[in-house]
Amino acid sequence: MGKIYELAVRVPAGDVINYDLGRLADAMDIKDPARLAVEISGSQGLVTIYPEDPLAEVLMPDPESLLMDSTGRIWVGLHHNGRRTKLRLYDPKSGSAQRMLLFGTTGAGKSTGGQIILAAMKRSGIGVFYADLKGGQSAPEARGNCDWCVYTQEGAIAQLRVFWNIMKAREVRYAAAGRSKFLRDRPDPLMYLILDEANRLLEKGAPYRDEATFYIKDIGRTGRSLGMGIALFAQAGHLEELGGSDTLRSMLKEGEVILLRWTSNLMRQLVADGLLPAGQKLMPIPKYAGAFELKSQFDDTEADEDRPGTQGSGYHLSGLHPTARMRFFKVGSEMPTDGLDPEMLALYGDGPHAVLEETSWEDAGEAYAGRLDGMDAYKLACPEQFEETKEGGGGKANGRGGNSGGGGRPARSIPVPVIPVAVPEQQQNPARRTIGDRVLAVMENSDGEMDIYEILAAVNADGGKTVKLGSIRSALTGLNAAGRDGDQ
Ligand SMILES: Nc1ncnc2c1ncn2[C@@H]1O[C@H](COP(=O)(O)OP(=O)(O)OP(=O)(O)O)[C@@H](O)[C@H]1O
Ligand SMILES: [Mg+2]
Repeated sequence: MGKIYELAVRVPAGDVINYDLGRLADAMDIKDPARLAVEISGSQGLVTIYPEDPLAEVLMPDPESLLMDSTGRIWVGLHHNGRRTKLRLYDPKSGSAQRMLLFGTTGAGKSTGGQIILAAMKRSGIGVFYADLKGGQSAPEARGNCDWCVYTQEGAIAQLRVFWNIMKAREVRYAAAGRSKFLRDRPDPLMYLILDEANRLLEKGAPYRDEATFYIKDIGRTGRSLGMGIALFAQAGHLEELGGSDTLRSMLKEGEVILLRWTSNLMRQLVADGLLPAGQKLMPIPKYAGAFELKSQFDDTEADEDRPGTQGSGYHLSGLHPTARMRFFKVGSEMPTDGLDPEMLALYGDGPHAVLEETSWEDAGEAYAGRLDGMDAYKLACPEQFEETKEGGGGKANGRGGNSGGGGRPARSIPVPVIPVAVPEQQQNPARRTIGDRVLAVMENSDGEMDIYEILAAVNADGGKTVKLGSIRSALTGLNAAGRDGDQ
């Protein structure tokens, strides 16, 4: 490599450094802005000029290097100056699991970075529940390399609920043992729940948004000291799309945060929310790397149609150097493979993955035992969602239930029970009925319990427009929220 130059810039205290990367590069006659690294903190700036893009290709030395170190960190990539990018999964001093947020626009490299994290977790003996809301397309190699993989919204909620049940069980067990801290593998493994494409679960209008937000918040708040961490990989234009909750936001503020390519809206919110330290600025990440020059229209224009991308490049906001550009290791085969990618599989290695401690299997229940997905998993993990419709309007569902199956433990709170509410007169006009009205009508007319499939069948038999299962689910969630509001 040729020479590297470093320029320190300073403006009078109180002044702010603003710059435009393209113009800065142009002023220095640098054709490829990726050769520049600019870090700004308050009135000081540091400009590093590389002879070529230092992060053009970041190769992993050996999958063995993914093993978590003694400080509980994993090595996932490099910063522009060659410094290792390390993410903390465990804090041995406080005995705590972490929370993690990896976000960026579509195609920014979230799932690929995510596979590095998943592989590192497997190699480090961490038990993982992995939910991919993209139907299994995000990280197909994770199947068989995690304790439990699901690919549907219902499966994700089932995992959240089961994870939460395990957390409650560990809480009771550790308290009884007089323990205030989690000790990794003594005897329970560190566990993580990972939600890829979490925005699909948390965005406005998503059918399980309220439930998901509840569990994520609670796991984030209390899972740490029980060795149960949570990670979200999300495409978020607005932080609002991640549950729209201040608590969720503040939970993530304290966790490990990696930001890949972003939208301008998101950046504004990051600054406003204090996720980006005051006075610090991030150099934007263009979609493509490399020099781009306008040439005569009559020159050979076919030469560089495939410009190198910048996927996997971003900032480790919660790290020591939040404004230093980093890039995840480039992993996987150069070209897409027909089936599972052998190079990705090699990342995970052949060894067994960690599983949940046997002591908690009963609390994890049948959804976990069968590693189920979809509505089957949801029904078994959240039975109260189906049981509560039995009463057919008979009073308030109490938010308490005894679905533990563990015997003798206190009843658990049930965050979002389905609460039937009375149908207001004016909503009974068949011509103007919403799906919610139709759901209520069939529930009222039923003389026994109904599950969601029966409700679907009954609604579709009422002579109105045919509806899909998702609409019934949304209607139930809406009715439930209305029921709760009405109770207050
Ligand atoms: N660190 C990296 N170095 C080089 N290429 C990368 C890197 N990370 C990801 N890529 C490539 O970028 C492409 C998109 O990556 P990925 O699917 O992980 O993005 P994503 O953010 O999960 O996208 P989506 O929003 O569609 O889920 C893939 O072809 C992948 O191989
Ligand atoms: Mg993805």
